[in-house]
Amino acid sequence: MSLERTLFIVKPDAVRRNLMGRILAHVEEQDFRIVEARLARLTREEAQTFYAEHLGKPFFNDLVEYMTSGPVLLVCLEREGAVAKLRQVVGATDPALAAIGTVRKLFGESKQSNSVHASDSPASSEREVRFFFGT
Ligand code: CMP
Repeated sequence: MSLERTLFIVKPDAVRRNLMGRILAHVEEQDFRIVEARLARLTREEAQTFYAEHLGKPFFNDLVEYMTSGPVLLVCLEREGAVAKLRQVVGATDPALAAIGTVRKLFGESKQSNSVHASDSPASSEREVRFFFGT
């Protein structure tokens, strides 16, 4: 396994409920290193571009509304096999279907307000880290 970087976002529902610290502790306990992090309020254009692959899906407009509804924590994480490992730690998109102990099972509210985002492949992680951190 090689050292990889991946993009992690603590979404507005979790920031609003004061869960940032607990969620970061959870990923740090899984040996992820925080390489870069910043709080941001996404613009509509940023949210639309970031989620461009979902353009045209029934939930797209609501997703953009939600992601721009309050601050998010943007985080670049690093560890061996980071992309696949973070997907495992985060759990399924729908918290109701996520495995016990995953971030979304512990903290997610609904399929949309699922507390966190994690890049879904090495290609997306490269694009997503570059999109927010330019590296
Ligand atoms: P994320 O992993 O950030 O990728 C796309 C996001 O769209 C997803 O998490 C959810 O927040 C949202 N999403 C995906 N599927 C649905 C759905 N069926 N209904 C509502 N929101 C969804």
